[in-house]
Amino acid sequence: MTKKDTIQNIDYAIIAQAHTPMYLIHKYWARKPHNVVADYIKHYSKEGEIVLDPFGGSGVTAMEAIKAGRKAVSIDLNPMSAFLIENTLSQISPREIEAEFSKLEAKLKDHINDLYETKCPKCGKKVVAICLHWEKDKPNKVMFECDSCNIKRGKDVDNFDLKKIKEAEVLKPKHYPQSGLAYNGNKFMKREGKETIAELFTKRNLYSLSILFDEIEKIENKKLQNVFKFAFTSMVHLASNMTPVRPTRQFSSFWALQSYWTPPVYMESNVWMLFESAVLGKQGVLKGKEDAANQITIYKKAKTFEELNDGANILFETANALELNKIVPKNSVDYIFTDPPYGGAVQYFELSTLWASWLGMDLDYADEITINSQQEKDFDYYHKMLKSAFREMYQVLKPGKYLTLTFHSTEIAVWNSIIKAVILNGFDLEKIVYQPPARASAKGLLQPYGSAVGDYYIRFRKPDVEKLLSERAMDKETYEREVVMAAKGIIEERGEPTIYQRILNGIMVELKGGRNVPIGAKNVEDVLKEHIGKEFELKNIKDAKGKTTGKAWWLKGRDYTNFSTPALSERVGKTILQVLDRKVKASFDDILQEIFIQFPNALTPDTADINSILEEYSVKTSDGKWRLKPEQQKIQRDTIHNLMIYHLAELGKKAGFKVWIGSQEQKSKVKNKPLSEICDRIPVFRFVPQDSLSLERIKQIDVLWLEDGRIRYEFEVENTTGISEAIIRGSNIPEQLKPKRFIVIPKEREKFLFRKLQEPILAETIKKTKWNFIRYADLKKLVGGARKTFNASELDEVAKMPRENTGEKQMNLNHFD
Ligand SMILES: C[S@@+](CC[C@H](N)C(=O)[O-])C[C@H]1O[C@@H](n2cnc3c(N)ncnc32)[C@H](O)[C@@H]1O
Ligand SMILES: [Zn+2]
Repeated sequence: MTKKDTIQNIDYAIIAQAHTPMYLIHKYWARKPHNVVADYIKHYSKEGEIVLDPFGGSGVTAMEAIKAGRKAVSIDLNPMSAFLIENTLSQISPREIEAEFSKLEAKLKDHINDLYETKCPKCGKKVVAICLHWEKDKPNKVMFECDSCNIKRGKDVDNFDLKKIKEAEVLKPKHYPQSGLAYNGNKFMKREGKETIAELFTKRNLYSLSILFDEIEKIENKKLQNVFKFAFTSMVHLASNMTPVRPTRQFSSFWALQSYWTPPVYMESNVWMLFESAVLGKQGVLKGKEDAANQITIYKKAKTFEELNDGANILFETANALELNKIVPKNSVDYIFTDPPYGGAVQYFELSTLWASWLGMDLDYADEITINSQQEKDFDYYHKMLKSAFREMYQVLKPGKYLTLTFHSTEIAVWNSIIKAVILNGFDLEKIVYQPPARASAKGLLQPYGSAVGDYYIRFRKPDVEKLLSERAMDKETYEREVVMAAKGIIEERGEPTIYQRILNGIMVELKGGRNVPIGAKNVEDVLKEHIGKEFELKNIKDAKGKTTGKAWWLKGRDYTNFSTPALSERVGKTILQVLDRKVKASFDDILQEIFIQFPNALTPDTADINSILEEYSVKTSDGKWRLKPEQQKIQRDTIHNLMIYHLAELGKKAGFKVWIGSQEQKSKVKNKPLSEICDRIPVFRFVPQDSLSLERIKQIDVLWLEDGRIRYEFEVENTTGISEAIIRGSNIPEQLKPKRFIVIPKEREKFLFRKLQEPILAETIKKTKWNFIRYADLKKLVGGARKTFNASELDEVAKMPRENTGEKQMNLNHFD
């Protein structure tokens, strides 16, 4: 029996931090953010316990585990995985690396740089080219730096340059990989008939790489040799011709596509310079290994699992996840954190061919879990392999312990496959957390359909006692009904027109990833489309200029008068205010983290929205943190808010009404008197619903003016009450009473409110319920002077819709009717 410890679950997204230097040495695809992985490890395992990742990839799980004092097991079928871990962690002093680098430098630097010699067009002196731009296999530009002239720029290729290229073409390279290139269809495409590694490089670069690699192989100390090979493969793709020249970046490039191809304009980069920066640069091995050594104080490699119980703390092997049982004993692992292949979205093995070929590694394509037509690996294969892999994981995990699975696809079929693979092996699904990308660009999100961005973190637990399993899918009608219900629930909960991405993220969570989804079920998108015009309608999203920028989903025929929750953005706004009230100064990430905790999954707001709210309320300090504007600080907000209520009460009395003040606000003081003293005693609110909920909401309205117990006027002061919130409260006062409704706004809020009113549902409801807006300043003018009486109709004269440009002539609200 394992006793169930009290675990503090992670039910919210964690803000991802940037990769630190140790994770920047070498490229790998879909590397997980270290701090998020670390948080999971710390929540779901204890010090000294064993953490496993059978799809270890670049080794983040393993390295974060030992950093946190756990023991790590990392398995991956791709030998690059072990290579990355080994060389990130290997214990070699920076001095040894520097010394060896100096030797290589003495032997090769001038020799290689000579091959890239060019002439400065200004002073005529010999300089070294940083890179060349080739267009359609012809060199046309040389990028160089001249120290004498203090310039760094490009020039046209001249005869001298052509001669240099010719000379290099007849040089005989040392040994280089002869293996063919692998193409296995789907994502990874054969675009230009390239068959060999050699075709990926210019002759000059292939020669330079070959002599560099040759020297590295001569290094006697194997550990050191491997570190330099690590540096070599970290840049070899950048030395290839798969590197497009971007208009804004003329001196460096990147590997852009899952293909062996030559872009129309590509780069030939100086091999020595690439290598030097791979060793000494900001993202080089020296900095990276230093970072690793600082962060990871104990590194003791195990050769077998048993050695982990005998002083060692990390075991990493190139192996098939389906054969986990050969490496790890049953019921021996305390926590699994893993990120399995996402269908065929990333072809890890093809992408690793180039590196592996230089390193002389064999890639076991046959056992790779992926979807890949040319390897005849279809969806069924993928599903079966995953299922077997999770069977293995189930067996090695101790009963009662956790498995966190991260996932990055929204194809319901792939979800279905993954989730089923896990629960059919006996795991209980406990929770799905949507983890948004830290800074998503807002643009792509505005389409009414599309695929999701961000990751899902799914928490499973191995039950204490093995269960009997049955696979029971829902029927198609049930599935479709659940999709529609979930979508409706999400829009209702958000209380605002919602972009497709948010709905999709929410549905994945609501349907528990679609674990009972029938085979061949429609995609969420198709189900929802069929319900446009029935349950849903699409609303235009407009920018501040009123231009339509996208579409959002809304519940057909609904507006805020029949809602019970205010719009999400208002709730988020309040939370941000509270965070800043409490913290005084906070970084964007701190604020985002609180928001992610309070508004998880389908409620997760866009970071762009959070940003615009922050800009509205606060200013950035010199250290990049946010702090409330003086007028937005709590004391100020409360003072002004209460003062406005006081004025409204005064005016109401002068106009001959009985005055009600919101039950919350009655406790506040103005001019040292509690507002309750100027609140009239109202025996009964007539002609309104008398149930306690409705009455409670009515009594929360900031100020009411009544005549014979009938509500004639209602007022909300905007700096604490959102517009949709005001509408929702106000909708408890029946239209038959023809109440006049006013929102009082401070000058600074006007622009913001103008923008908010571009939101179609809000605008429609405002119009329908005939709300008006009054500015603080106008209100103060009305109370000014020593007038004894006041005519309520004067309010209509000063009422105006919020404007974008507050300097412009105001337009009377009546114009909008
Ligand atoms: C999504 S990646 C993991 C990336 C990882 N999250 C990281 O931070 O680097 C999936 C990994 O599964 C590996 N893989 C594919 N088939 C496998 C198999 N049969 N056994 C073990 N690993 C396999 C791939 O090589 C790849 O590294
Ligand atoms: Zn010069």
